[in-house]
Amino acid sequence: MDRKFKRTLVTSALPYANGPVHIGHLAGVYVPADIYVRYLRLKGEEVLFVGGSDEHGVPITIRARKEGITPQDVVDRYHSLIKKSFEEFGISFDIYSRTTSETHHKFAAEWFRKLYDEGKLVEETTTQLYDEEAGQFLADRYVTGECPHCHNEHAYGDQCEKCGRDLSPTELINPRSTISGSTPVMKETKNWYLPLNQYQDWLKQWILEEHKEWRPNVYGQCKSWLDMDLQPRAMTRDLDWGIPVPVEGAEGKVLYVWFDAPIGYVSNTVELCAKDPAKWGSWQKWWQDDTTRLVHFIGKDNIVFHCLIFPVMMKAHGGYILPDNVPSNEFLNLEDDKISTSRNWAVWLNEYLEEFPGKQDVLRYVLTANAPETKDNNFTWKDFQARNNNELVAIFGNFVNRAVVLTHKYFEGRVPAAGEWTDYDRATMDEFLGVKATVEEYLDAFRFRDAQKEVMNLARIGNKYLADTEPWKLAKTDMGRVATIMNLSLQIAANLAIAFEPFLPFSAARLRRMLHMEACRWDTLGRTDLLAVGQALEPAELLFEKIEDSVVEAQVQKLLATKQANEAAAQAAGWQPEPQAADIAFEDFEKLDIRIGTILEAKPVPKTDKLMELLVDTGLDRRTIVSGVAASFTPEEMVGRQVPVLMNLAPRKFRGIESRGMILYATDAQGKYVLTSPAKKVPEGSGLK
Ligand code: 2FM
Ligand code: ZN
Repeated sequence: MDRKFKRTLVTSALPYANGPVHIGHLAGVYVPADIYVRYLRLKGEEVLFVGGSDEHGVPITIRARKEGITPQDVVDRYHSLIKKSFEEFGISFDIYSRTTSETHHKFAAEWFRKLYDEGKLVEETTTQLYDEEAGQFLADRYVTGECPHCHNEHAYGDQCEKCGRDLSPTELINPRSTISGSTPVMKETKNWYLPLNQYQDWLKQWILEEHKEWRPNVYGQCKSWLDMDLQPRAMTRDLDWGIPVPVEGAEGKVLYVWFDAPIGYVSNTVELCAKDPAKWGSWQKWWQDDTTRLVHFIGKDNIVFHCLIFPVMMKAHGGYILPDNVPSNEFLNLEDDKISTSRNWAVWLNEYLEEFPGKQDVLRYVLTANAPETKDNNFTWKDFQARNNNELVAIFGNFVNRAVVLTHKYFEGRVPAAGEWTDYDRATMDEFLGVKATVEEYLDAFRFRDAQKEVMNLARIGNKYLADTEPWKLAKTDMGRVATIMNLSLQIAANLAIAFEPFLPFSAARLRRMLHMEACRWDTLGRTDLLAVGQALEPAELLFEKIEDSVVEAQVQKLLATKQANEAAAQAAGWQPEPQAADIAFEDFEKLDIRIGTILEAKPVPKTDKLMELLVDTGLDRRTIVSGVAASFTPEEMVGRQVPVLMNLAPRKFRGIESRGMILYATDAQGKYVLTSPAKKVPEGSGLK
């Protein structure tokens, strides 16, 4: 850590409490943040890790409206679920609170009021979209319409998800209210704006000149904003869910969610420090003392808020430290497709925990191995399986297991004394020490993927050492040498328990228990006396187990089912009934002889994909009807069913088979046939009238 800093304050983006969290959240923000704070704690540094739920904003109110419950019900449900998922994945927050807390409401309102009183906000009356049916202004996602840039017809009032541009509701072409579906009208309203334009030069200096070390994706995004003219941003909304604007004449208005959410980092710190001041000191020490280093972990869609808007809010308020770094990740895709809550295209953490109990570290490992640090990356179940089986099981788990099992076999489960080291022992340990320095360098630079790779290399070194020295072969001839090999192997295992702690906290803890390691400190990494001679070990237990093909296949099938359901829903959404046919005379209708028949036999017509040959009991006779439905039904689904039959359609031949009449089916939104039967069984031959 830079010597001017004495402590580190780490924040991770507050997830919206309007749905469960998924692997994209974990990979993008929470696992890297957790690795970082665990590493700092291991180094004995003073660190505070703040998290919490973001419980305001339009999407929460939309969800509540859809489900017929209150926004408070929505956030209560998801705050608990999200908090529990994080706990179970070992995300080691010092506090995980929520933006509906009293402390937060008060703190955020005071912040706004201070800016307001000091004339740091600009009051502006504008015309905004208003839903006359619902009697409500339409903020952000309450409006959809055509994007003026890419002409996506389903753009939201705050953003177009197709071209990624930020929008304001009034820019949309053909706007529609998502509340009532009606076309909104324009109505005047007053709001308060943060004049970002007044801070542009200051931001340029602070970021573009003084933080050239930020990740290229973060720096680049800031630069592209700062190369344009920044505009004032509304910090209030006409909405009934959020923190009321603490200003006379602002009834029916709340603080913009992106005003109050980052303040949540501060108010959650306030809450923690008030709870345990002896441990944490004052909140001001963490936020207003320039010997504190502030680091924000976020996803790329949050860059502008954390690098431009929140710093301007802090600068305008005065007294606050600014972030020293904002390690933002790009996005994680799932099986080559963008993760999407609305399309249910995600691996939800609560479901993973149920389906893979005790395997939190496996997911942490795979997500770090594929972390989208420099570009969007992809999660696949095949890769998940391969990394588990070929790396965690075959390298780390296997090495630890062999070291402990062999110690039990040859030395009654106690750490044997090492004799003289050979050149090979020395070379192995030198290699080991080199890796430690590299891991540190990577972690200090927020390169978690590379850091974890290096730690796995430590396990590889151990594995290779055992494989090369083959103590099981020497056991008959040279127990002195075996003792040295096992001592060194166990010391390597103890080192792994430290080095893996930030990445795989559950497995590292199990390993420490197995080895009876009391202390776990980063500065002891690389030492070969971590375990005392004669110290007893616990029986060996497997740290990881193989994941079978059938298990990942089931996950792939689950995603496939989601994809099919999405396609069906999309088609159903676009489905239109055919227009009504031209009128016919009653006499024409009377010409149709439609009766109920029962299908007695069904078999596909050979060498065709579509045709099915049916034998039908029509009450008058048993006749053959050829039907083009082989793609929709199996013969078993058809036999025994009662169906309407158009009896007097002139006979026709299909593939040499004479078909007499036609069976009538319904069709679904995908154009597939659906069998249509009378509500109760009727005699064959009864007519449809
Ligand atoms: O993008 C999101 O999920 C936001 N809820 C993140 C907020 S981060 C912070 F400002 F609280
Ligand atoms: Zn667009």
